[in-house]
Amino acid sequence: MKISIVGSGYVGLVTGACLSDVGHEVTCVDNNVEKIEMLNHGEMPIFEKGLKELVQSNVEDERLFFTTNIKKATEDAQVIFIAVGTPPDEDGSADLQYVLAVAKDIGNYMNGYKVVVDKSTVPIGTADLVQATISEVLQSRNASHEFDVVSNPEFLKEGVAIDDFMKPDRVVIGTNSERAKKIMHEVYTAFTFQHDRIIFMGIRSAEMTKYAANAMLATKISFMNEISRLCEQVDADVEDVRTGIGSDHRIGYSFIYPGAGYGGSCFPKDVKALIKIAHKHNSTARILEAVEEVNDEQKLVLVKKIVQHFGNDLSDKVFSIWGLSFKPMTDDMREAPSRVIIKELIKKGAKIQAYDPEAMKESKRIFGDNPNITYFEDQYSALKNSHALLLITEWRQFRMPDFDKISNLLKEKVIFDGRNQYEPVQMEELGFSYYCIGRPKLS
Ligand SMILES: NC(=O)c1ccc[n+]([C@@H]2O[C@H](COP(=O)([O-])OP(=O)(O)OC[C@H]3O[C@@H](n4cnc5c(N)ncnc54)[C@H](O)[C@@H]3O)[C@@H](O)[C@H]2O)c1
Repeated sequence: MKISIVGSGYVGLVTGACLSDVGHEVTCVDNNVEKIEMLNHGEMPIFEKGLKELVQSNVEDERLFFTTNIKKATEDAQVIFIAVGTPPDEDGSADLQYVLAVAKDIGNYMNGYKVVVDKSTVPIGTADLVQATISEVLQSRNASHEFDVVSNPEFLKEGVAIDDFMKPDRVVIGTNSERAKKIMHEVYTAFTFQHDRIIFMGIRSAEMTKYAANAMLATKISFMNEISRLCEQVDADVEDVRTGIGSDHRIGYSFIYPGAGYGGSCFPKDVKALIKIAHKHNSTARILEAVEEVNDEQKLVLVKKIVQHFGNDLSDKVFSIWGLSFKPMTDDMREAPSRVIIKELIKKGAKIQAYDPEAMKESKRIFGDNPNITYFEDQYSALKNSHALLLITEWRQFRMPDFDKISNLLKEKVIFDGRNQYEPVQMEELGFSYYCIGRPKLS
């Protein structure tokens, strides 16, 4: 099947690579010329495990193409995915300008029946807007092509995106059209050989499913972070509580890790957008508002602990940061807790020595040439002459570090662990002042 994907970011690129790998002929489109040039030279604009190899092999087999030419991509394809960004508007609602711009382009170049697929995360009712936008443009061209707009939200997780796409828990497709249903089944059939994991539903339910899924996951995280704060007050250990409740299969172990707050390109913006959707429809979003508030506070929990230890004036202090990306296995720093923590520490006068296995380039882009941040090529050299280590992202290589080396390199033996990676008892035995999330102080 000939498929075009408009928007070659995280979702578009992974979708394109995976769909081409099962035999579809896929053209990935982007209006960012630099990005398309990079891709045509075999370079990846993002770090995602396995993506480069997958792209390379499908480009070589002539099933995957990159272009800025949306006209040709629209004309040639039977199915067109819209996978552009839907960032928060000033008021937090999803900004649909990119989605609707693509809808206009599709209307302009449509030359026959197409299935237009909303892959971007969009507010409930957006498929209708896309439908109306395309119809308007067709009318202005005096053209009368048939088309269907389908909602097919994406559930991949950055870091394991290829695996998630190749072996999805489910593929949600919102459509009322039998014709589109058949075509979408063909698009995804190779991914659901083992058992049919395609869930067909109404368009608005599919749009809502995506928001509800992310809101539920964000709620689990904020819930656990709130419990962790309470644990600190009542001298309970949140790690025991976590295993205690996770073992209940109705609750489960995933997404109940206390930490430095959730970030990324999806949870923060989708929770905000769902709150706005609720307000727009005169409904309440009390749980979601609390989820967001708890998360904003949680991003500052490590800073609070630092002030508790060192005082509010940090002007002669240097802090080493391990982990900048919002989670391991990605270089994505959108809404990452590290950004809030770094800004706050610098505001209090501190200097930062940072290390991340993949996100340092992105951090340099975000913070520019801020003289208060220095980057290091390995995790240990970032510790030299520093007053404390802050672990913010739980990359695997930080899990069992050489504590003797850490002791020798740090000026003061202090660790602030934003992801509960180490054991308080061991830290005390090694002579560290150790701060973590929601665990009782030993002495
Ligand atoms: N990143 C994730 O983990 C993830 C997971 C599930 C869903 N989503 C959703 O998928 C959507 C895309 O997210 P992303 O992370 O891939 O975004 P992204 O910012 O990485 O990529 C979007 C791409 O669209 C391109 N673009 C914008 N306007 C365009 C236009 N008019 N024509 C052609 N290209 C255009 C941009 O240049 C960019 O390359 C969002 O709605 C997001 O919420 C993201």
